[in-house]
Amino acid sequence: MNKKVLVTGGAGFIGSHTVEALIERGYSVRVFDNLNPQVHGAGAEKPAYLHADAEFILGDVRDRAALAKALAGMELVIHDAAEVGVGQSMYSIERYVSTNVHGTAVLWDILANDKHKVEKVLVASSMSLYGEGRYECSEHGKIAPSARPDEQLKQGDWQMRCPDCGEPVEPVPTDEAKPLDCTSVYAQSKKDQEVYSLMIGKAYKLPTVACRYFNCYGPRQSLNNPYTGAAAIFWSAIQNDKAPLIYEDGLQRRDFIHVKDLVRGKLFLLETPESDFGVFNIGTGKPTSILELAQTLIKMSGKDLKPNVIQKFRSGDIRDCFADVSKLGGLGFTSSISFEEGLCDLVAWGNLQQSVSNVENAHRDLVQKGLVV
Ligand SMILES: NC(=O)c1ccc[n+]([C@@H]2O[C@H](COP(=O)([O-])OP(=O)(O)OC[C@H]3O[C@@H](n4cnc5c(N)ncnc54)[C@H](O)[C@@H]3O)[C@@H](O)[C@H]2O)c1
Repeated sequence: MNKKVLVTGGAGFIGSHTVEALIERGYSVRVFDNLNPQVHGAGAEKPAYLHADAEFILGDVRDRAALAKALAGMELVIHDAAEVGVGQSMYSIERYVSTNVHGTAVLWDILANDKHKVEKVLVASSMSLYGEGRYECSEHGKIAPSARPDEQLKQGDWQMRCPDCGEPVEPVPTDEAKPLDCTSVYAQSKKDQEVYSLMIGKAYKLPTVACRYFNCYGPRQSLNNPYTGAAAIFWSAIQNDKAPLIYEDGLQRRDFIHVKDLVRGKLFLLETPESDFGVFNIGTGKPTSILELAQTLIKMSGKDLKPNVIQKFRSGDIRDCFADVSKLGGLGFTSSISFEEGLCDLVAWGNLQQSVSNVENAHRDLVQKGLVV
């Protein structure tokens, strides 16, 4: 495969692994990334980890002329560039909407109006579009409840309950057909990205795929960005001898997928024509609690720390969501890296890094804005 691929956000965590995997498969890769200071540090240069064979262009997806230049000659586009962070998006609203929605609009405006060679577009979507995942009620069967009421959360009752009978319900895998119920500006901006991409791709018969990534972790996730990536945030706290800060009771469940598996999944979609114009979960299908994640990382560090479970709710958060992976599985893809194996890889890399844990400042910002109950 020697096609030319543009990866927006290709200097970031998922993007840089994508670039590496593409080059290993014989693609020629161009990266377009503005080196967002929150992720890369102020005044950062092209990251040393970026594959030497990738062409790097410093630029912002909202800059039409720069993006149009970067698109010249490209045959495939992977659109990963975004502002990433649920809590922060609830007050940095303009910034999130601007990069995620406007940036995506600029990409499609170029594809709709300028001459190009692009044959397929993959857009990074997110499990956050679902809001709460699917649940099962012993009385009412499979349900898709919306956010837990504020009154319930104020009492420290974190359990998801059936909206009809009020009984506790158990999470089950969340499939792509679950109604979307965005609970944060980030989620809504990712939904806009997905909807515009599929709508415009379809109109112009340009194969487009929305990849709904679940919680991704692994080497190169920014250890200094307190707004996204639970595993990286916890590792950076532990490395700085601080207890990982956990909202609610820590028993909320997510689907943690190692970045190498996630990238294999997206490249599988890129290379599989049956995926065209579709929406696919990319996760492991296995639920893990946030508390278990923190405890496992503490154990691996060998440090004498205990998670700081603060029994408070962060606006925009959800209780449980993990992937139903049968749609992607039906095309022939499965993840292969176990949670333990994946975390060992993260820790081996994390031990070689230095980090600043900014999570207390991020939490203080949320409290000041009244976004923590
Ligand atoms: N990490 C996860 O668990 C996860 C889950 C679901 C979806 N996603 C999506 O995956 C994609 C990649 O996320 P990530 O975790 O690698 O984040 P990241 O922050 O490491 O990477 C994003 C990259 O985009 C770049 N960027 C930001 N704004 C830009 C702009 N205006 N113009 C050009 N480049 C810009 C950043 O500099 C960064 O290199 C994002 O679209 C994100 O919404 C991530």
